[in-house]
Amino acid sequence: MPFDLDSVRARLPGRRIDWYQSIGSTMTLAAQLAREGCESGTVVGADEQTAGIGRQGHRWHSVADAGLYVSIVLRLPIGANDLPVAMLALGLAGQKAIAEAAGMAADLRWPNDVLIGGKKCAGILAQLEGGAILAGIGINVNQAAFPEEIAELATSLRLESGRVISREDLLVELLRAVDEFSANLAEQGPGAILRRFERASSYAAGRRVRVEADGATIEGTTCGLDGSGFLRVREDNGKERTILAGGVRPA
Ligand code: BTN
Repeated sequence: MPFDLDSVRARLPGRRIDWYQSIGSTMTLAAQLAREGCESGTVVGADEQTAGIGRQGHRWHSVADAGLYVSIVLRLPIGANDLPVAMLALGLAGQKAIAEAAGMAADLRWPNDVLIGGKKCAGILAQLEGGAILAGIGINVNQAAFPEEIAELATSLRLESGRVISREDLLVELLRAVDEFSANLAEQGPGAILRRFERASSYAAGRRVRVEADGATIEGTTCGLDGSGFLRVREDNGKERTILAGGVRPA
């Protein structure tokens, strides 16, 4: 179904939303708008991405009309050191949007994978550009199947619920939730987001994980986040490691 941008604009008056039928990556255009000084909250979205960017150099599967593919330019009064916490805030926003628009309870896997039934239904990128944070959010909404190479790991809201979910409702809820969690971060500081993330994520503490980081594999049990938003993992020898980046998987 074609995306009904008018219905989104009617519910979010005054919001700049640039929508494309097909685009390489929404990140590229959002970066350009950020450099040109666009307003905070500006959205670039597309029905299809031909070169969707995922974390760690992966492609983001972005077939036409099935998913939600958006980049949001955010100008928040926070320092560059708070980017990891901003990323966690975006995960919380994705989780809340899915609950509000689809009535589904998603889990969060540090730093920013959104999971249902243990499979990934949304992913988030956050990078600095033009003095702003570029939040790239991809949600698998109505895909009926995935390519073989990711089928074991990926799912969609439709596959999990058996219903077609409105991408328009999801975008409205996502932008509201991003506004809410951005305001939380700006007004209450990182601690408020860290506490919420620890409550919202089954991966934050007490979970056996394997982490691929810096060419090494670490296995252990998660034991919360540090004050910067990094994941703490206790190895079986009792040594505690702080994970700055990398892929976390159940062990
Ligand atoms: C991940 O790998 O988990 C992050 C995926 C982020 C995908 C979104 S889709 C909208 C935006 N444009 C992109 O090219 N990537 C992000």
